[in-house]
Amino acid sequence: MTVALPPAPQFGAPIPQAPAPEVLRFLATRRSTSAVTLAEPAPSADELDILLRLAARVPDHGKLAPWRFIVLEGPAKAAFAARLEALALSRGDLTDAAKLGKLKIPPLCVAVIASPREAPIPAWEQQLSAGAACATLLYAAQAMGYGANWITDWYAYDPEANAILGLTGEEKVAGFVLMGTPREPPLERERPDVAAHVSRWRDVG
Ligand SMILES: Cc1cc2nc3c(=O)[nH]c(=O)nc-3n(C[C@H](O)[C@H](O)[C@H](O)COP(=O)(O)O)c2cc1C
Repeated sequence: MTVALPPAPQFGAPIPQAPAPEVLRFLATRRSTSAVTLAEPAPSADELDILLRLAARVPDHGKLAPWRFIVLEGPAKAAFAARLEALALSRGDLTDAAKLGKLKIPPLCVAVIASPREAPIPAWEQQLSAGAACATLLYAAQAMGYGANWITDWYAYDPEANAILGLTGEEKVAGFVLMGTPREPPLERERPDVAAHVSRWRDVG
């Protein structure tokens, strides 16, 4: 897909905000695609640059950019998956080894890492910004016409897997965003009854 994005606005430049009904229509029907149905082509290098630029444009209390992106593609992604597979098998865990299909099959993965900074901003808010980066990356890839899936799975939480990925200190995996072209269109999933999740606060004190 040819994407002509406006240049990144300069710091302090006024940015006119216009309604974007196309974005609303997109959000009304976008769906994640099961990772194991994702095949080539994946976003190109130029498209990935755009996706990461958009993902980095998230709300971020304190302007800390408390996240980073690790791109996993080609032979490096295969090697990462092989290291995880060896780890699972060394523990005799065939179930964990089998779960690696979601990482092996899609052609492109971006690991979004919550990378908290020393700051007065609570770590929780920094992690929320990393979650927002995952969602923005997911939505942007889907809006570009690719299939995408945000997963975590055991290797997001396993300390040895985190070390293989290169995490340090207090870093955590916010998500692995898998991308490619869906071999079949996703089916709608169950959605919550929104009204059951909404209340209006009233002062009863
Ligand atoms: C933080 C987070 C972690 C997730 N981890 C997994 C996972 O490990 N495996 C999985 O099958 N789905 C996982 N999911 C759910 C998938 O993203 C799922 O495809 C998604 O809920 C589909 O919803 P959508 O079509 O509205 O995007 C996770 C979702 C979130 C937000």
